[in-house]
This record gives sequence, structure tokens and C-alpha cells, in this order.
Amino acid sequence: MSKLPNIGTSIFTTMSKMAAEYNAINLSQGFPNFPVDKRLTTIVEKLASENVHQYLPMAGYPPLLDKIAALTNQSYDRTVIPDTEILVTAGATQAIFTTIQALVDTNDEVIVLDPSYDCYEAPILLCKAVPVRIALNDDYTPNWLKIEEACSSHTKMLIINSPHNPTGKILTHADLEALEGLLEKYPNIILLSDEVYEYITFEQKHLSVNTRKKLINRAVIVSSFGKSFHITGWKIGYLIAPEHLMKEIKKVHQFVVFSVNSISQIAISNYLETVSVNDISQNYLEKRDFFRSLLKNSRFELLPCEGTYFQAASYAKISTENDVDFCKRLIIEHGVAAIPISSFYANGKDLKLIRFCFAKDNLTLEEAAKRLCQI
Ligand SMILES: Cc1ncc(COP(=O)(O)O)c(C=O)c1O
Repeated sequence: MSKLPNIGTSIFTTMSKMAAEYNAINLSQGFPNFPVDKRLTTIVEKLASENVHQYLPMAGYPPLLDKIAALTNQSYDRTVIPDTEILVTAGATQAIFTTIQALVDTNDEVIVLDPSYDCYEAPILLCKAVPVRIALNDDYTPNWLKIEEACSSHTKMLIINSPHNPTGKILTHADLEALEGLLEKYPNIILLSDEVYEYITFEQKHLSVNTRKKLINRAVIVSSFGKSFHITGWKIGYLIAPEHLMKEIKKVHQFVVFSVNSISQIAISNYLETVSVNDISQNYLEKRDFFRSLLKNSRFELLPCEGTYFQAASYAKISTENDVDFCKRLIIEHGVAAIPISSFYANGKDLKLIRFCFAKDNLTLEEAAKRLCQI
């Protein structure tokens, strides 16, 4: 008997596999195809011949914990204690999985907004807890009234994600104020804030839960070096949590991974001495604008993109097919892979929307756009 009877292969795996089979340009899965910063690869090459190959302390390489604390202070003016409030994880996925396993019990309810990235539901189900999906408004802002209506003494956790995958929407001050007001009424709800695209925002700056004094004592905040430094395959990220939550999270973490890959931790720690996170958004802003300008004369309608490296687009003027069939045909007939946005909804809601990843070099974006403009 399956413990996850309704969970199949992720749409990202399916679309990337099909893209490879048909030799299509893969704008589906969210990973960059441009070279990694030479400074980082040089650090790795040098490290490989040094004494860096054994287990590191469970919570992370101590100098890296210090650098994360410094980065958090620099970005959000928050002081975090490296020893007790930071945990290096095998990507944001493991941070989220471990947090949910550690803090959510059988029959607890966890509020997940709809649409959402796909890594929240399975860990909730594995805890025998109940995911409660609440639809975002039509413009993808959270509907705080509906969220409040769903809160009760059974609610253990609320998961938010900003900048938001797949819509590129980011939370505003008003959203965070509404969130604070709501959580004040429910002191037992833990906030899990997925901020993996924190350094990829455009006109409006990312507003981190790290900056909200009313929230930080009940929040687990998740970051991803994979996303920030274009090294998704390294699977390295971290979470920040107050000590009382972190104690429980570490109990699970030590039996999931114990400690994360040593070379990547030391490499990132050294890299953080030279790199600035301030340049990340500018690079992606140029890519976003370039990709959008290339698609200006296509029949796709582009949604606003405030952050992340994803561009959501409507194909309603092109076809009435459902979005999964449309994406498959896009690969087979037009040589471009995208993700159907229905896969981010609990009930597979089909709004004729698909998601392109624009974290690609300009030649790739140009060729993909050329094909998309011919449809
Ligand atoms: C919103 C969101 N959260 C978490 C993750 C997982 O990040 P990582 O690769 O660091 O596990 C992703 C990856 O696409 C994501 O888009």
C-alpha cells in the first residue's frame, strides 16, 4: 500500500524528460544554463585537494553559519545567533521537509496557498496531517479573509512563498501587516516562509519575514544558495528559526542528512567573502526584460513578473486545449518545454497558463522566443 497514493512523478521531471526526448529547448524546470561564477568554480577546484572531505558539524560549517548570520544582518537588519538559529540544509526542499516532519503532528491542519510549488503537500501527508488549500485571489495576492476563515485551533502551520513560484508575485507591506494581524489571533500557528527567490526581485524589493519582529519568534524562514548562486544541482540552502523550533527541527535533520556535503558548505562560505547578493536581481531583470521583449509580438499574453526567474503566460488566444496537452504539443511540435500551471493547483485548475523559466543565456532565450512567436 502506498503512503502517498495520489502523488505521482513531478511535472518537472516529466517535462524535462520529454524536452530531452524531443530535443526541445527546456524552459520548464527552474535551473539556469549559463556558466557559474568563475570565482566559485576556482574555489571548488582548489578545495578538492585540501582536507575538506569529512563530516562537518551537524548544523553546518561554523564559518558558513557566521556568514549566513552576517548576510541576514546585511540584507534584513536581523541579528541571528549562528549556533542556535541557523541550519544548513540539502536545499530548500530538505529544509521544508524536515521542518514539517519536526513540527506537524497527525491530524494537524497546514494551510497551503493555491497555486503553490509542489514540495509542501507530500511532507504534510507523510505526517498524517491535513493540507488545507486556500486559493489566492485572481491577481495571485493572498486572500487574508479566506485564510483567516480557514484558521482554527487545529491549524498548526501556514506556508507562504514570496517571491512566488509560479506567478512571480511578491508580498507587500500590507500583506505582511495582514499576516501579523491574523497570526496575533492564533498564537499557536507556526509560519513557514519559503523565500528561495529572495534575491531575485525587480521593481519592488523583497520583504522578508526576517524583517518582521512580530513574526520571527514563530517563523521558519527558508533560503536556497542553489537559487541565489545559480547552482541548483548543489542542493544547498538553509533555514532560520527561533531556538525553540530549531531544537525540534535539528532532531529530525540529524537523521535525514546529519550534515550537508562538506565541499559545498566550505566553498560557499569562502565564496560569500567575495560575492555580493546585490547583483543577482540586476542580471535577472535584464533577462526578464529581454525575454518579454522577444515575446512582445507573439500570441502569448504575459502576466506581470515581480520576482523569481519565471514568466507566466496565457495561451488562451492560441488554443483551447488543457495546459498539460498544450505543453506536450509545445514540446513535440514547436520544440519548447514549459510547465503547465495547473500542476501547481491542488485540483489541477486549468487557466490556460504556462510557466517559462528565463534563467537561460540570451541565445537560448532568443531561439525559444523565435519558435514561440511562430505559433
Ligand atoms: C518556491 C520553491 N521552494 C523551494 C524550492 C526548492 O529549492 P532547492 O532546490 O534549494 O531545494 C524551489 C525550487 O524550484 C522553489 O521554486
